[in-house]
Parts: sequence; C-alpha cells; structure tokens
Amino acid sequence: MECNRIQIQNFRNIESADVGFDSGVNILVGKNAQGKTNLLEAIGFAALGKSFRTSHEEDLIRFGEEYASISVDFSDSVRRQNITVRMMKGRRRQIEHNKNKVSKISDVVGEFRTVLFCPEHLSLIKDGPAERRNFLDVAISQLYPVYLRSLQRYHQILKQRNTLIKSAQEDRRSFDQTIEFWSEQLAKEAAVIARYRARYVLCAQEHVADCFSEMMGRSEAPTLRYHGSSGQEIESYEDLSFTEKTYRELLTTRYDREIGAGSTLWGIHKDDIDIEINQKSARLFASQGQQRSLALAMKLAEGEVCASVCGEKPVFLLDDVFSELDASRRAYLFGRMEDRQVIITTCDPELLTGGHIITVENGAYRSEAK
Ligand SMILES: Nc1ncnc2c1ncn2[C@@H]1O[C@H](COP(=O)(O)OP(=O)(O)OP(=O)(O)O)[C@@H](O)[C@H]1O
Ligand SMILES: [Mg+2]
Repeated sequence: MECNRIQIQNFRNIESADVGFDSGVNILVGKNAQGKTNLLEAIGFAALGKSFRTSHEEDLIRFGEEYASISVDFSDSVRRQNITVRMMKGRRRQIEHNKNKVSKISDVVGEFRTVLFCPEHLSLIKDGPAERRNFLDVAISQLYPVYLRSLQRYHQILKQRNTLIKSAQEDRRSFDQTIEFWSEQLAKEAAVIARYRARYVLCAQEHVADCFSEMMGRSEAPTLRYHGSSGQEIESYEDLSFTEKTYRELLTTRYDREIGAGSTLWGIHKDDIDIEINQKSARLFASQGQQRSLALAMKLAEGEVCASVCGEKPVFLLDDVFSELDASRRAYLFGRMEDRQVIITTCDPELLTGGHIITVENGAYRSEAK
C-alpha cells in the first residue's frame, strides 16, 4: 500500500499544500513547529477518520478559517484510490471515496491502511490499559470494518447504560424497567469485539516475540494474552454465545455495585492485554529498555498482521521516533522499513541516510532533488 499524494487546505498550520511521496522512504525534515507532525496527522486522518492528537475536529481547522480539506491519493497492487474529507465549523464533515459521497467514516476505514508510530507509543507497555485497548481498536478497525461498527455501537450503548446507572438513585423505576435491555445489547456487542481482539492478540504474539528477540539478541520470548473483564479462558472467546452469556450474567446480576460505582463495571472497555516476559508482568518487572523494545515490537507486529490479513503492507508513519531510540534500535527499525513505504518526520536528518527528503518550513513542503 502506498500514499501517492496529499492535497491539503487550511489544516492546522498548512494553508495549502500538494505533496507527492516516493514508494520507499520519505523523510520530512524541519525545525520544531513547522508542520511535520501536522502532515502525518492529515494522512492519518484520511485513513482513520480521526486524529491521533485530538478528538476536537475543529482544532484541525486552521486558526481563523471556516473549513479544511484533505485529499489523499493512495494505491495498492490492484488500484489507485482517493479519500477526500472536508470539515466545516459547526457542520458535519463530508467524506468522498473515489468521488462518491459516503455517509459514515466507517465505510472507508480499512481502504487506506497505515501504522502510526510516535514517541508516546514507546510507553505502550507501562501505560494504562486504555492505551493498549486503543492500540487494538485502531489496528483491528483497519482490518475489519464490522469491528469498527460494532465498537461504535458498543460505545453508544455503554453511554446509555452509564446514564441510566447514574440516574438510578433518583429514578429506580426507569432503571429497573430498562437496564436489562441495555445489558443484553452491551453483552452482544462485547462478545463480538472480544473475539476479534483475542484473535488479534494471538496472531500478533508470534510477530512480537520474533521482533523482540531480534532486538534483544536473547531468547526471552514475551507472551501476549487478551485479558477480558469477563474472566474467561482465552480460547473460550471463540464461542460467541458463551462470551455473550458470561458478560450478560455479570451485567445483570450486580446492579448495586454498578450503581455504587456510577458506571458499567464489566465489558470490553475494561479489558487489557497481559504482556509477560519469563512469566512475569512486563509492565511491573521489565526494564525500561525491554519495555521500549516490546512496544516497538508491537507496532512492527501491527504492520505484519495487517500485511498477512490484507496481503498488502501498510504505510508506516513514524513521527519523530528515531531521536527517541538508541543506535541499535534505530538501525533495527530502519532495517525493518525496507520494501515498504514509510513517511518519517525528524528535526535531525543526520540520524537517517537516503530516502526522499521533503523540507518543511512554516506549513510549506518542498521536495529536494535526489
Ligand atoms: N488549528 C491550527 N491552526 C494553525 N496552526 C496550528 C493549528 N494547530 C496547530 N497549529 C500550529 O502548527 C504548528 C506546527 O505543528 P507540528 O506539530 O506539525 O510541528 P512539528 O514540525 O511536528 O514540530 P516538532 O518538531 O516540534 O514536533 C505549531 O506551531 C502549532 O501552533
Ligand atoms: Mg512533531
């Protein structure tokens, strides 16, 4: 998969830009605050329909302007495609896929596949479970559109159920009348999502172990297991009706605890990935270097799983990660970027050799002659 070209208007500090990319390594070079990450954010936005930096869409529109647009031409081994997104203050955004209007972003997510890697991802192991769930959600949504739809429904149901729980003290009658319905709906979506996640972790595990041992040079293979709040054995997530029943039981028999807590206590929004090295929690016991190598291995595994499921290597977007890594991990990561398209941002071009250089200055992009 390749990002061939991006055209931008009024996105962040970019008034207007038209940038073409090479098939291999592309390096965006510039001083701080010039618009390097903004360009990656725009590419990522076209791929996922959301920013990796903000959930406020209006933040993306250039200060003082009313609208912004991003148009990305991308291709795989079969065809060339386009995704165009237009955002307007106070209005719903408009999305076009190959010039056809689409109503929901979930209709295009998974067409243009990217793997984003930024310095914050290096703390994926020691961060809280929300970051690991987000890792799974972004990766799996790009592979299976049904997953994203299920996830969106799940979060809508969760919101309704949480509102109901919060109002239970004042209005117990409405709570009693409707909670079972919402609990059943939630359990149904939870089962679907948990199965995708458990399968994904199983699939990623082997790649994580390979990358990790290549980096660390020893055979202390890490293990990754999906850890559901339903407390099931990992294999049992394959059985949708069993998982649904388990979540339903939890969600329909402990209302007092949930009313006390003021929110839903079981479901895929509470799940995590257990990551261990030598049967010990990597979050609690691994060294900082091991944690960072593991995090890097997880992002590389995301690319490998994507390639094996879709038959196309995703575009890697590396935001300022090379300055965060030591020389050996830098060399390893660079070596792994062969035979694929990668778009890298850096303030320090000395850290990298070769590649198509694009100089970034005040929201303007200039390709350097090779
Ligand atoms: N909505 C917006 N309108 C105009 N400018 C914005 C908007 N949002 C952010 N900016 C500006 O964009 C500039 C560049 O941001 P960006 O994150 O791309 O920098 P960068 O080149 O990646 O820098 P660094 O090397 O420090 O990471 C910042 O100075 C920021 O103030
Ligand atoms: Mg940046």
